[in-house]
Amino acid sequence: MLYFITNSVEQKSSSFKCYNLEIQTHPEVYNPSEDTFLLLEEIDPSTEDSVFEIGSGTGIIALYCAQKGANVICSDINPFAIDLIKKNWEQNKNQLTGLLEIRKGSLFDVLTKDETFNLIIFNPPYLPTSKEEYVGGSGWFDKSVSGGKNGLKITKPFIQQLSKYLRDDGRAFTVFSSKSPRIEFNQIHKKNNLKSTIVSSQSFTDETLEVHKIIKK
Ligand SMILES: C[S@@+](CC[C@H](N)C(=O)[O-])C[C@H]1O[C@@H](n2cnc3c(N)ncnc32)[C@H](O)[C@@H]1O
Repeated sequence: MLYFITNSVEQKSSSFKCYNLEIQTHPEVYNPSEDTFLLLEEIDPSTEDSVFEIGSGTGIIALYCAQKGANVICSDINPFAIDLIKKNWEQNKNQLTGLLEIRKGSLFDVLTKDETFNLIIFNPPYLPTSKEEYVGGSGWFDKSVSGGKNGLKITKPFIQQLSKYLRDDGRAFTVFSSKSPRIEFNQIHKKNNLKSTIVSSQSFTDETLEVHKIIKK
């Protein structure tokens, strides 16, 4: 993997190159980080894939999938992210062989009942955060990283609804932090007839991040 970051204008925005994609960032949008790059290394999209990415941020993962020839729908709740994904699509569209559609909304709300996918990706806000720990401001940063008290506030409804939109032979990828309760995370999969496997992980001083591949049982 090759990426480098160039800061511009008082660190208000920057751009970097990754997998030959030129990605601009925005102060109100999650900056691609270790979790993003861990996911990018595992997802392996192809021209055969119909992809849904939730919480696209800069759009880097969705654009990578479209660069590999997959047809992609991506979404985010953050309006700044939606604008940024459009910008990054414009910047990179010449090298995308798959289609990219961008929708604004929460989790699976942006889909119709009959839209199903064989690859679903979500790098969720997973940091266990109490209300006192919120950064505040516009609130978009908190919405990008905070997974509520135990870190699973957004991950839980994601897994609960996943089966409806994941084709029988499909796979989904998400990120789990060791700061969240593993037993509860595993139980949500079990209750929803899903099987989750750790496909990669990276350890830091106080947490381990895991990429989980989820399939139907
Ligand atoms: C950890 S960031 C990941 C961004 C990007 N996918 C990446 O890996 O760099 C989580 C993203 O999910 C978005 N998000 C948070 N809650 C969401 C929800 N309920 N539905 C859709 N997107 C959500 C945030 O706005 C943010 O862009």
